[in-house]
Amino acid sequence: MQNVLCDREGHLAIVTVNRPQKLNALDAQTIGELDCCIAALEQDATVGAIVITGAGEKAFVAGADITVLAKQGVLDGSDNARLGQALTSRIENCKKPVLAAINGFALGGGLELALACDCRFAAENAKLGLPEVSLGIVPGYGGTQRLPRLCGTGIALQMILTGDPVTATEALRIGLVNGVFPAADLLPQVKAIANKMVSRGPQALALAKQAVRRGMHLSMQDGLALEADLFGAISSTAEMKEGMAAFLEKRRASWIRGS
Ligand code: COA
Repeated sequence: MQNVLCDREGHLAIVTVNRPQKLNALDAQTIGELDCCIAALEQDATVGAIVITGAGEKAFVAGADITVLAKQGVLDGSDNARLGQALTSRIENCKKPVLAAINGFALGGGLELALACDCRFAAENAKLGLPEVSLGIVPGYGGTQRLPRLCGTGIALQMILTGDPVTATEALRIGLVNGVFPAADLLPQVKAIANKMVSRGPQALALAKQAVRRGMHLSMQDGLALEADLFGAISSTAEMKEGMAAFLEKRRASWIRGS
């Protein structure tokens, strides 16, 4: 991979979008590399959680690559949106927790990438926004759907229709990010949160995420039925037996992760 770095620290995978000279803007190659990377990490039983961040101190991801967008027509415009949507959906549906460490600008496709993650944390200097309308286009990688579901229609429409970014502090206030840290502390803090998740039962994490993600699209009644089914599915697994035994024996659980 040329534009994406993938580092391992124990059961944690750190994925870095690495085009700092273009503020980590997403071209087709970068989207493809991210997609392959997340797919491989999801299949790797030794990976417990994934952190996505951007290279350099300035940007998480400053959007889709505008030099590519500038040349697109109707067909390749739709293809481009589908490519970005396939990546963001893969992240959203990934069996492992995926956390965004937003270390600077998260604009357009960059914010849409972060919106697909399970939790978002920002550096104090970060700016987050969907500026597409100021370029005469609309968000295409899921922003019009995920932002209102996360922050409510009024906040989302204000951000989308003005195109104005919000500061990290404002992002925290509107529920767009879960926490804000000084830039130097961002990655260590996000890794610590991810490692806390990794210390929990891996199958339980996958099913809990599935319950929330799928439940968001269901009625309360159907969501509760899904939750009961998943609760049944985890019952009597070796993981549940180990978790319960560890509690009763006052020891730390030793989870089975495959090879
Ligand atoms: N696509 C392609 N290239 C991008 C880019 C993007 N989304 N965002 C930044 N870049 C490039 C710049 O063109 C510049 O390249 P150059 O050095 O070859 O000219 C380089 O990254 C550095 O960006 P620059 O604009 O010089 O940095 P800045 O600190 O002055 O401004 C931003 C930072 C983020 C405010 C500004 O780059 C910007 O507005 N980018 C576009 C954001 C956007 O609209 N994203 C949504 C796209 S749908």
